Amino acid sequence: MRTFQHRHLLDIERLPVADITAILNLAEQYVDQNRADNRKTNKLNGKTVVNLFFEPSTRTRTSFEIAAKRLGADVVNIPVEHSSTKKGETFLDTVQTLDAMQIDALIIRHNEDGVPQFVAPHLRTAVINAGDGKHEHPTQALTDAFTIRTHKKNLQGLTVAICGDIAHSRVARSNMHLLTKFGAEVRLIAPSYFVTPKDVLPGVELFDDMATGLKDADVVMMLRIQHERMAQGEFAVSLKDYHQRFGLDHKKLAVAKPDVLVMHPGPVNRDVEITSALADDPKLSFIHEQVEFGVGVKMAVLDLLLTK
Ligand code: CP
Repeated sequence: MRTFQHRHLLDIERLPVADITAILNLAEQYVDQNRADNRKTNKLNGKTVVNLFFEPSTRTRTSFEIAAKRLGADVVNIPVEHSSTKKGETFLDTVQTLDAMQIDALIIRHNEDGVPQFVAPHLRTAVINAGDGKHEHPTQALTDAFTIRTHKKNLQGLTVAICGDIAHSRVARSNMHLLTKFGAEVRLIAPSYFVTPKDVLPGVELFDDMATGLKDADVVMMLRIQHERMAQGEFAVSLKDYHQRFGLDHKKLAVAKPDVLVMHPGPVNRDVEITSALADDPKLSFIHEQVEFGVGVKMAVLDLLLTK
């Protein structure tokens, strides 16, 4: 019997370990299906999935669309720049309008923290958070956990270093919640201008230098500098200086475990947070695999939310 009873996927913070495990276990089957010759099923035949993205996206929006189509659902992408939000309609009116069309899932990306959580109780449709401001990005953390589990079997006891612009990163926050729930040792590595005390969740260690923070790490997750979440002039360091101290390259990575996984949620800013040579290193970089697994993980999320 299926135990996953949630109507929405809004965050990792409040998602129990058993439900995260259920998503990851089901994703195993869908990652295989996504690699098969015949990738399409009719599991979600007749269902309608709507993508409503108020921020740019390549990976998340497209992989939700592919995931929904692989399961036989119809997909509608709302071009927000041409929507009635531009004519003064409130966000709640917009989502209630879409809900009235009898859609089944509304996938929301928004620049403000808490928007999916605010609208979900007002809607009949399932709401999936595709990234809200600096708060959470649950399907990215699920994808990252799936990638780690594929190579390391278990999350428990692993040392995972998350490095870069922590303060503006919803990916870092969702990953901290998920990894600590599963007993991983989580380290943040960031300069003082990219982390505040409230960013360091309980049980997480903070480092301000790569040499110590990366020592014996099993997994390193690199983060992009989120210039779009900063005021003009707020980031006062040159990218060259930043790269010298906090950009990951083969030399800095040498203190990590020999079988370390290098990950990045994308988009990558090459030769800023990670060198091109390392991002493209087929032995160490799992960035493309994260993208691939993102489809299977989203298929699992859609299945669990839309078939009861
Ligand atoms: N990782 C991620 O959210 O990428 P996109 O912004 O391209 O969706």
